[in-house]
Amino acid sequence: MLAIFSKRLLEKLESTERIVVFTGAGISAESGVPTFRGAEGLWNKFKPEELANFDAFLQNPELVWEWYKYRKTVMKTVEPNPGHRAIAEMERIFPSAIVVTQNIDNLHRRAGSSHVFELHGNIDRNYCIDCGQPHSNDEIFAQERAPRCLKCGGMVRPDVVWFGEMLPVDVWEESVKAVESAEIFLSVGTSGVVYPAASLPSMARRAGAFTVEINIEPTDLSGSFSECIPGKAGDILPQLLPLCPQRSQ
Ligand code: OAD
Ligand code: ZN
Repeated sequence: MLAIFSKRLLEKLESTERIVVFTGAGISAESGVPTFRGAEGLWNKFKPEELANFDAFLQNPELVWEWYKYRKTVMKTVEPNPGHRAIAEMERIFPSAIVVTQNIDNLHRRAGSSHVFELHGNIDRNYCIDCGQPHSNDEIFAQERAPRCLKCGGMVRPDVVWFGEMLPVDVWEESVKAVESAEIFLSVGTSGVVYPAASLPSMARRAGAFTVEINIEPTDLSGSFSECIPGKAGDILPQLLPLCPQRSQ
């Protein structure tokens, strides 16, 4: 569908150097990664309290690992979509463009984005809860049951943020810094209900950024953006890209 962009947004793009793109599960939906909420969302089929928190992991590591091995397998088979690629290409126009993502699927990096802050971790990484030793996915899949640390025998967990856990402090602080100095802030494919990540759009606006939401439906946060563009990320972003100023390098 042909997207219509406001004059204000196009003017902002002309005069901007610093852009932050904030993403959620919706950006990866067109790659075939299920979102969390909505009719087809993961949290309708699985209970977060049984799968995505540390106590659940300690109580039933086999179940939690079955779920994460399944998700790792899904993520391996998917590819970045035109939305991820358009964001990666923005770096040619805005070299300091930063992606702050809630996604753990690694698709922004695979699409070519080089400044990616992963607020909720990365499904390709794992570590021992006792000694911290990192473990590759190959080391995880080589073990049939819930994997054990190859160094100390402790329990290994995926390097993702679970409910009730803190976000990685350095990643969060870097993200806040980027958001507070952003001139344009694009929020793409997130329901904006999981905090503290969901506080970033209003933080950007308060700090003076022009904030835009791209989503297939209105969200809890829609009213707080400078403007909202309805539609699919993989449809809207590739149309926005050629309208960004084509600066000589
Ligand atoms: P959600 O599943 O809550 O929201 C996905 C959003 O994407 C919804 O607002 C959809 O309308 C929108 N959407 C779906 N398809 C789209 C498309 N093709 N283009 C644009 N938008 C689309 O996912 P998140 O907001 O990412 O946390 O969820 C936030 C956090 O909740 C996740 O990071 C995860 C989860 O619990 C942790 O695991 C800590
Ligand atoms: Zn260990």
